[in-house]
Amino acid sequence: MNKARIAVLVSGGGTNLQALIDAQASGLLHSGEIVLVVSNKEGAYALERAARAGIETLVLTRKACGGQEAFEQALAAELTKRQIDLIILAGFMSILSEGFTSRFENRIINVHPALIPSFCGKGFYGLKVHEAALAYGVKVTGATVHFVNEVPDGGRIILQKAVDILPGDTPETLQRRVMEQAEWILLPQAAEQVSAEICKEKENNT
Ligand code: GAR
Repeated sequence: MNKARIAVLVSGGGTNLQALIDAQASGLLHSGEIVLVVSNKEGAYALERAARAGIETLVLTRKACGGQEAFEQALAAELTKRQIDLIILAGFMSILSEGFTSRFENRIINVHPALIPSFCGKGFYGLKVHEAALAYGVKVTGATVHFVNEVPDGGRIILQKAVDILPGDTPETLQRRVMEQAEWILLPQAAEQVSAEICKEKENNT
């Protein structure tokens, strides 16, 4: 079978990338293959995780490229060159413009650490999402994997899972629970689901 060629975009520690790498090793992710990891931050630990798994890595920063538009153009060129079928945002802390997302319609997925449409959109990323959930006082939060379009965190939802907030939670303890109970499970599942759909489309087109 012709597997979907996957690029994972990261900015930080890369625990979600690790979940994808582990899913590939265990066979849970079998319709797609991670062939590239791109970081928009120099020295991101995710790059080490990728290198350890023998995956090609690339660092592309907005600053080095000379602005967001040039960054997106360079990124699109690298992805096209490698015939990437699926782009996975796994802790990628930069909003992509419509110019970019429309080029890869239904080909970009993102994991968000809340139950969209709560605590999402511009300014809601990383620990800030959990701080906002605790400040609001919700008793249940979770994670969402969704397609990426021009609206930040606004694309079609693929998978969602709820996680309880417990008395005494801090943003850090909540972040960890949401990762363990939701993100690291959902993201590989969604990656496999979308990869399988892409494979089917590819077969139909040949
Ligand atoms: C994860 O919780 C991810 O959902 C979140 O950042 C963390 C990255 O951790 N992403 C966003 O907030 C994007 N809006 P990781 O680098 O260990 O995967």
